Amino acid sequence: MTQTQSMIPVSEVDFAQFPWSIPTNRYTSSTLAEDEGRAIWMKLWQIAGRADELPNAGDWKTYQVLDQSFIIVRGKDAKLRGFVNACRHRGNVLCDAAKGHTPKFTCPYHLWTYGPDGDLIAVARPDLVGPLDKSAHGLVEVPVDTAFGFVFINPDQGAEPLADFLTPQVIAGLAPYKLDEMTPVGMDVREELNCNWKVVIDAFSEGYHIIGVHPELLKVIDLQAGNAMHGMYGDHGVACSPFEVKDAANASLEEQVQAIRDLPSTFPTVAEVLPLFEQMIDANRDAAGALVFPEGETVRTTLQKATRQVLTAKGLDVSGLADNQMSDNQGWFLFPNFFMTIRAGEATTIMAFPHPSGDPNKCLWRCTAYMWLPEAFRTQYRAELTDVTEPGSYPYFLALQQDYDQMQRQQTGLKNKGLTHLSLVHEELSVARFHRAWNRHMNQAQGAA
Ligand code: FES
Ligand SMILES: [Fe+2]
Repeated sequence: MTQTQSMIPVSEVDFAQFPWSIPTNRYTSSTLAEDEGRAIWMKLWQIAGRADELPNAGDWKTYQVLDQSFIIVRGKDAKLRGFVNACRHRGNVLCDAAKGHTPKFTCPYHLWTYGPDGDLIAVARPDLVGPLDKSAHGLVEVPVDTAFGFVFINPDQGAEPLADFLTPQVIAGLAPYKLDEMTPVGMDVREELNCNWKVVIDAFSEGYHIIGVHPELLKVIDLQAGNAMHGMYGDHGVACSPFEVKDAANASLEEQVQAIRDLPSTFPTVAEVLPLFEQMIDANRDAAGALVFPEGETVRTTLQKATRQVLTAKGLDVSGLADNQMSDNQGWFLFPNFFMTIRAGEATTIMAFPHPSGDPNKCLWRCTAYMWLPEAFRTQYRAELTDVTEPGSYPYFLALQQDYDQMQRQQTGLKNKGLTHLSLVHEELSVARFHRAWNRHMNQAQGAA
């Protein structure tokens, strides 16, 4: 079975719908960065963490985007709520750490105290306060919800429900992976980059740069024009190029097997699956040791079968996933700033945030590797967030290091005022889709202003 129901081949895409010439000032202009703050960052659902970071009532964390700060807290009713991180009295910051645990929030300025549900429960020295309707002075609430184990927040109090924003296709497409049961393992890192946040999104939205930046991946990613499948769901989407040996039709079976063995170590599930894969391959050798596959079986289907068996034995229910999801990495994008490659049992996420200072030439990126582990092992193997303060000091895996260097080089070029537009090519369809959505949100905000 192949999971392609809601995806279409690139040959069916109407390219005329998308912008292919993109003004470069959206990466460098402070004025546009301010407009973007209003039109995108203050308007849309965005991921603020993982729900399992806040397991108990009273657990809280802060989330900052640009200069706006929010508190996300789990209430006694187990519900997560979001609040503007400012005291209702005279606006003092309530929480200035990244996370904590408390039965109540007391503002250090004049000691007003709020419950985890945001209610104002006490003021200091009521004799000095005069008449005050406490019920009208709770913290300012903003929408918070969860999906796929992620906590989403929306700074806009009038936001549409998260499920509507995500679309039913995104929800149905991601559900079978059981992302909510995955844990950050091995890498959870945040670092300031010298590039606009959209440079990061663009870089992870296309495979065209593999030829220039990640030549070692060409062994397993077959960049044939027309090979990719696309799912387009509102502003979000998924693209997938089959994860298979380049030119499988012309490579010998032994060469194909060797290519799987040589897969970069950035795919930990493959390493786990290799012993069974080797057994299954050896079962197909004749007396002379030559590989002879039964009708319909290939190196790719063997990898898929081994992956399904290993993950099932580990306890992951993969029954909702198709065979191609055992091998192929799907590249998901959730507008505005979340990119994820995912296949059965593992995922890598890249998020880009505008720099808190508002400087369009900088951003923060956060890269996290997720693995599905049996529940008993999740706490033990969970990666803690590393905040990199010394540029170049974090050992990213090869492909990420290559992107890290490339993105900052691109921003340097984009700053040249003589270059007014960049030119996208058809292989960069997801980049063009991203910019179409960006244009629409910016235009909508202009229309509303
Ligand atoms: S500003 Fe918070 S109690 Fe006065
Ligand atoms: Fe890349």
